Amino acid sequence: MKDKICIITGANSGIGKQAAIQIATKGYHVIIACRNQQRGEIALEEIRAQSQSTQVKLGIVDMSSKASICSFADSLHQKFDHIDVLIHNAALFNVTQKEAQYTNEGFETVWMTNHIGPVYLTEKVMDLLKNSDDARVLTISSKGLLAKPFLKVNLADPEYKSRKFDVTNAYYQSKLAQMIYTWWLAKELENTSITVNAIRVPAVQIDISRHPDLSPFMKWAYQQKSKQSITPQRMAETYAYLATDAGMKSISGKYFDENNQEISADNYTINLDNINKVIELTNKYL
Ligand SMILES: NC(=O)c1ccc[n+]([C@@H]2O[C@H](COP(=O)([O-])OP(=O)(O)OC[C@H]3O[C@@H](n4cnc5c(N)ncnc54)[C@H](OP(=O)(O)O)[C@@H]3O)[C@@H](O)[C@H]2O)c1
Repeated sequence: MKDKICIITGANSGIGKQAAIQIATKGYHVIIACRNQQRGEIALEEIRAQSQSTQVKLGIVDMSSKASICSFADSLHQKFDHIDVLIHNAALFNVTQKEAQYTNEGFETVWMTNHIGPVYLTEKVMDLLKNSDDARVLTISSKGLLAKPFLKVNLADPEYKSRKFDVTNAYYQSKLAQMIYTWWLAKELENTSITVNAIRVPAVQIDISRHPDLSPFMKWAYQQKSKQSITPQRMAETYAYLATDAGMKSISGKYFDENNQEISADNYTINLDNINKVIELTNKYL
């Protein structure tokens, strides 16, 4: 049997790190794809120690940069002839961000990191996914979208070039686009061995020390929210289940909650006209 290869972006902290531990414990080779070498190495040590696996490796990728994604994809092609699991966990959501920021390639960072980057990486390693007889792509959405029932992807200006930036809307817009991409890709790949599913993440405890810019009030608010939140370990169980459970083979285009239950997707994301428009927009970035 071929080695099972799993890539998890943003696995140096939070849910991604816990998912890396759980999936490595199941015997998968896990590549934690992180943007920062030092944070990645610290996480790598911890993941190896906790999973008792030597088959965990660090890859460097900045999901907001097409050049970085290309170079990461090249490194994967050099090392592997297939990929079994690709988890698009990395995301940018800094509630203190007041203005849109643009990368040196000219892209708005939230849109690029959370939506275009994952699409681009998937395209770049599609041949490796096709070489697996049971490949799984997982995208990550947010239960917080329930509080934004009227939000849509702004087709004219997704990158806030001519409208006032709002980091919360930028984040949820990117998550809507990821969901749309998930349903579209699952359909595109329906007669292949690749499945594509999305996970709805509820409030999960975050590491406040990662957010030094938070005001004392926001730190207090996060601490209160944390009491109602599940742990990253608990959330990672759903990642690990969808990534590895034999019963999930062939299940595609579905949306799952933290109890591994299938749930309905927001109507906006399953409307064919919306899907076509968002995919047309997305393709312009590839
Ligand atoms: N926590 C929640 O309540 C919650 C709720 C709904 C959805 N989610 C989703 O769950 C996923 C994991 O979140 P989390 O709570 O575990 O947050 P987290 O601990 O902040 O993890 C996010 C990860 O993404 C990485 N990242 C950010 N920008 C990146 C880039 N340009 N390139 C590569 N990596 C990048 C971060 O790396 P650095 O260390 O370098 O910053 C970090 O490792 C995200 O998709 C998030 O949107 C979380």
